Amino acid sequence: MKTRTLPSGAEMPQVGLGTWTLRGDSAANAVAMALELGYRHIDTAVAYGNHRHVGAGIRRAGVPRQELFIVTKVPRDNLRYEEVLAAADQSLDELQTDYLDLFLIHWPNPSVPMRETFSALGELHRKGIVRDVGVSNFTIDHLEEAQGVTSVPIANNQVLYHPLRNQEALRLYCHERDIVVTSYSPLGRGEFVRDRTLQRLAAARGRTPAQLALKWLVDKGIVVIPRSSSREHLAENLDLFDWELDDEALRALDAMEG
Ligand SMILES: NC(=O)c1ccc[n+]([C@@H]2O[C@H](COP(=O)([O-])OP(=O)(O)OC[C@H]3O[C@@H](n4cnc5c(N)ncnc54)[C@H](OP(=O)(O)O)[C@@H]3O)[C@@H](O)[C@H]2O)c1
Repeated sequence: MKTRTLPSGAEMPQVGLGTWTLRGDSAANAVAMALELGYRHIDTAVAYGNHRHVGAGIRRAGVPRQELFIVTKVPRDNLRYEEVLAAADQSLDELQTDYLDLFLIHWPNPSVPMRETFSALGELHRKGIVRDVGVSNFTIDHLEEAQGVTSVPIANNQVLYHPLRNQEALRLYCHERDIVVTSYSPLGRGEFVRDRTLQRLAAARGRTPAQLALKWLVDKGIVVIPRSSSREHLAENLDLFDWELDDEALRALDAMEG
């Protein structure tokens, strides 16, 4: 598994499991199955309401905590200082862990000063409760503002990014500042499986449309967090690192948005 190095020195696996919409036993089952297959990075959020079941899946798989990379997010309606601390506390309790590898602001909220939110994230970072801090759904303007008020480096920006939502300018901006980009909904919420261009390209290469979309992202240094409840899909989405995307496929994927 390739990784991206974060400011703390932590290695963030380039493929993780997304868990949005997975609730109850289906969340626990998907997490346990993914960890058995070799996933080590799990993406969740307070807003997904699945921390307890994600935690149960982790315990079922029995992977040592230090081998895992757990990401969660503080909701946009809880960005006041005390609320951020409380959300972290609640996350540790629900996930049954002592620390978070990465804690993100889920969405920017203009009604709360960023300085206040980052001050709480800085406190969590100083105490070792979160190893790295980051953001999600931040534009370049949001990032400019955030970098002016934080004492802790912004490790990550998790955004919608896939061949039909190519955010090259944002990616380059983040790259120049050592902010790792994570692509959410990398499969367009499953839509790409039906995309004719991807189907044709994939069939000619003995790959699947999902793999081409994910490979296009990881080759750009982007972290991907596809969600799946199927063993077959989970395995497929992890199999990205011992083959190459040829120039024709790359050009076709680059051109998809237009
Ligand atoms: N920060 C944010 O605001 C934000 C917003 C949205 C999402 N996210 C995160 O990003 C994660 C991923 O995004 P997403 O859940 O929106 O959607 P996604 O990962 O783009 O797509 C998930 C869908 O694709 C299907 N799928 C997965 N692998 C496949 C494969 N190899 N072949 C065919 N179909 C496949 C899944 O069905 P099966 O179960 O049948 O495989 C599921 O229906 C979320 O779960 C969440 O953790 C973050």
